[in-house]
Amino acid sequence: LFAGPCEFVAGAATESALPPSDIIEIAFAGRSNVGKSSLLNALTGRRSLARTSQTPGRTQQINFFDLGGRMRLVDLPGYGYAKASKAKVGAWQELIRLYLKGRPVLRRVLVLVDSRHGLKETDIEVMTMLDQAAVVYQVVLTKADKVGASALAQVRETVEASLRKRPAAHPDIAVTSSETRHGIESLRAELAALAEA
Ligand code: GTP
Ligand code: MG
Repeated sequence: LFAGPCEFVAGAATESALPPSDIIEIAFAGRSNVGKSSLLNALTGRRSLARTSQTPGRTQQINFFDLGGRMRLVDLPGYGYAKASKAKVGAWQELIRLYLKGRPVLRRVLVLVDSRHGLKETDIEVMTMLDQAAVVYQVVLTKADKVGASALAQVRETVEASLRKRPAAHPDIAVTSSETRHGIESLRAELAALAEA
């Protein structure tokens, strides 16, 4: 699936601009700068399909990418701090909320969490909203290349403990680095299996 064609289909800045909900979608959610667009690029093997930046707030609309007509990858703007106006950030948050709660084809949300920082209040809020909407989500620890093995094990344990306290069961935490490509192949296989199911 990930070896085949992948192309940009649509960018939506408002609810009415969302493309029709007709094939399954995997969304990339997380705080600004956590590495959502970079992970999407690493998974598809395209260096600059989704635009990335050192400045939080790079992705300013919901971008949809089609994988061979069988699945869409959905790159969301970051939540939390972003170098953009309050009004703009507020509008993104509302659009993200509408999208995440009202998308029947949404098969899984990847909730990206920086390996150095662990879960933040905004991550917990999104997970609570997804639990309420009965949407499956999987935590992905990003930028694993930035921390040592013991720190990584520790953050993983803390996130696992926090997930165990939540109402629903969730897929296992994934650990990735878009830099070294650690964990990319196995996440790819896991997501590709969702297109078969
Ligand atoms: P917004 O669209 O602003 O919400 O950000 P984003 O979550 O899409 O993050 P993006 O992919 O643009 O990456 C932000 C910065 O982190 C960029 O400078 C990336 O090069 C860097 N980055 C992303 N993933 C990794 C990683 O796995 N390792 C390292 N070392 N840097 C990474
Ligand atoms: Mg982005």
